[in-house]
Amino acid sequence: MKTTGNTMLFTGGTSGIGLGLALRFAAAGNTVVVAGRRKQLLDAIVAEHPGISAVELDVADPASIAAAYEAVSRSHPELDVLVNMAGIMLPEDLRDPGHLAVAEATVTTNLLGPIRVLNAFLPLLLRQDDATVVNVSSGLAFVPLPATPTYNATKAAIHSWTESLRVQLAGSSVQVVELVPPAVRTDLMPGHRDDESAMPLEEYLNETFEILRARPDVEEVLVDRVRFLRFAEVEGRYDDVLALLSSRAS
Ligand SMILES: NC(=O)c1ccc[n+]([C@@H]2O[C@H](COP(=O)([O-])OP(=O)(O)OC[C@H]3O[C@@H](n4cnc5c(N)ncnc54)[C@H](OP(=O)(O)O)[C@@H]3O)[C@@H](O)[C@H]2O)c1
Repeated sequence: MKTTGNTMLFTGGTSGIGLGLALRFAAAGNTVVVAGRRKQLLDAIVAEHPGISAVELDVADPASIAAAYEAVSRSHPELDVLVNMAGIMLPEDLRDPGHLAVAEATVTTNLLGPIRVLNAFLPLLLRQDDATVVNVSSGLAFVPLPATPTYNATKAAIHSWTESLRVQLAGSSVQVVELVPPAVRTDLMPGHRDDESAMPLEEYLNETFEILRARPDVEEVLVDRVRFLRFAEVEGRYDDVLALLSSRAS
């Protein structure tokens, strides 16, 4: 994908990686729309960053996706990049029947969310000369963190779905990119922002933006830190890495 001259919608654009990347792209000469549920944050982002616009969006709610599509396709009919960033990550004890609500919310947000959002926006993207869908999986798609079972499963599913999407869109004007973040210091889970073993957000954003800038045809965006997880199985380290992750709560 190109890193300048796009008109981009970031779901999950109110905080963390989504907001950070949105600001990088805005500074690099792209038109940016951020989306999320937290209206106060959307208003603050628009007030602090002239040129960025915002739309309320709950990716777990089909009516909200339809309303956001109506608003964005009217305000930005030239939209050519969809970044499916919105996601949640919650611990679950599968022995506790109460985990089911977490599992259902996680699938609805992390898996059904991008599927529904793409379904709404793909016809518009296909009408552009040069467009991109960016999906966001995780290093945990490749080796699970047992404390967050449904989260890992949704990210493995997003990886698989993204591969199929890329094949189905081959030969169209829409390129498909997968971001595969390692642990990054954001508020995705309580305590995550201060986790010394996670990658500092600014470092992740710098490395990611540089990969996208230097390699316009990149399919999977892999910062160095995620290779440990991404290639664990093929490099014969899967059991060791799973054992390591099994001792972690987040
Ligand atoms: N940080 C990491 O270690 C890491 C590692 C691998 C992958 N990732 C992935 O990167 C993405 C961004 O996470 P982050 O670390 O930046 O965490 P974050 O700061 O918590 O950001 C999550 C974003 O998702 C949005 N969101 C959550 N549920 C939503 C819903 N139902 N509808 C619309 N938006 C929703 C939130 O916005 P609102 O609350 O305003 O709706 C927020 O903007 C996620 O997909 C995550 O799985 C993160």
